[in-house]
Amino acid sequence: AQQQTFLMVKPDAVQRGLIGEIVQRFERKGFRLVAGKLVRMTEQQAEFHYAEHKGKEFFGDLVSFITSGPVFAMVWEGDEIIALSRTLIGKTNVKEAAPGTIRGDFALHTNRNLIHGSDSPESAAREISNFFGTEELVRYERQI
Ligand code: CMP
Repeated sequence: AQQQTFLMVKPDAVQRGLIGEIVQRFERKGFRLVAGKLVRMTEQQAEFHYAEHKGKEFFGDLVSFITSGPVFAMVWEGDEIIALSRTLIGKTNVKEAAPGTIRGDFALHTNRNLIHGSDSPESAAREISNFFGTEELVRYERQI
């Protein structure tokens, strides 16, 4: 089924010049970019994004890291994109992230793991709404 997901290039990957590399992997797979913007997240936006981690010992570090520099926030669309994008991204724990995945190829540390991808349709809807108004999502057919 066609789905939308929220993907975000984190500050570490922006600083390492990996936006193009990461975007290319999703384009090459056949997904459609429907929205994108470079933004510095506010603390409130970060707390909303990471609401499920509130109370965990790494929550404070998470919020300060994600607000430490610009992120490239995106909405992508495609068949089963929520599960498939997480396969392209690789496991959260970098020791388990397979070569060929974004994290497997480029990430050394679990808390500097380059990219975020939604884990369910409910998370995707909430995360998209944290960055984009519905009028910012551009719908079109991919011709090839
Ligand atoms: P992500 O899944 O995008 O969102 C939560 C982030 O918390 C995760 O990526 C990691 O970067 C970070 N993190 C740091 N420590 C841990 C941990 N022990 N378990 C899971 N996530 C962690």
